[in-house]
Amino acid sequence: MAESKESAKGLHIGFIMDGNGRWAQRRGLPRTAGHTKGAQVFQDMVKYCKQLGVEAVTFYAFSTENWKRPKSEVDAIMRLLKEYLRRAFDYKKEDNRIIILGDKTPLSDEIKKLMAEIEEGTKDNKGMTINVAINYGGREEITHAARALARRVAEGTLDPDQIDEEMLAGELYTAGQKDPDFILRPSGEKRLSNFMLWQSAYAEFIYMDVLWPDFTRKHLDAAIEEYCHRSRRFGGI
Ligand code: IPE
Ligand code: IPE
Ligand code: MG
Repeated sequence: MAESKESAKGLHIGFIMDGNGRWAQRRGLPRTAGHTKGAQVFQDMVKYCKQLGVEAVTFYAFSTENWKRPKSEVDAIMRLLKEYLRRAFDYKKEDNRIIILGDKTPLSDEIKKLMAEIEEGTKDNKGMTINVAINYGGREEITHAARALARRVAEGTLDPDQIDEEMLAGELYTAGQKDPDFILRPSGEKRLSNFMLWQSAYAEFIYMDVLWPDFTRKHLDAAIEEYCHRSRRFGGI
């Protein structure tokens, strides 16, 4: 931890929390048991990242494609989400800022209300930023931003030639935040699955062969250490 502590300061880390279903199935348990365990790991990672002085974390909790799953699994994930959103009120005391990334429209009124309360209640906090991506898709996010800019053009308040990268980034759910320095995907899969497509342009990718419910602080230490050995050039030399 001592080493991680120095190197993790100021980072933005993206977590693709994957492998919950396989973790449960390997134990002969229903997939939802994996989501329950995965949510506990999420909570511990928030605590640990805070201790390490990480600036921002983004957790991929539910994608725009995850609605394809059986209704019983989606319902179980939404129940867990509600439970953790309620618990998030504690985070207020910890000075974390909580932001929900994604299209909230199809979520239940109860979840929307909880999200609004948490975002509003933590918006002036100066500690770590915790982004939770729910009904999030990188393509949906960019489409949503394009629509917002198009609306201003149609109203006559924006000239298309004024649109630049900064302006588009300002319409993303992550507006005003730094891009992720590295994105971590456990579970052995080596893909983004529609996560932070715009923001990951120069992110480092770290894939790990551990399922998310088995992910520990030691795994994060190892990931940070690997990140520190990468040479980021951003197109330079
Ligand atoms: C990630 O674990 C959680 C969500 C996508 C909601 P999975 O449920 O995808 O687990 P695997 O990949 O099937 O093992
Ligand atoms: C990505 O995992 C989404 C989340 C972790 C929330 P998936 O399990 O949905 O991704 P694929 O289907 O393996 O690409
Ligand atoms: Mg998966």
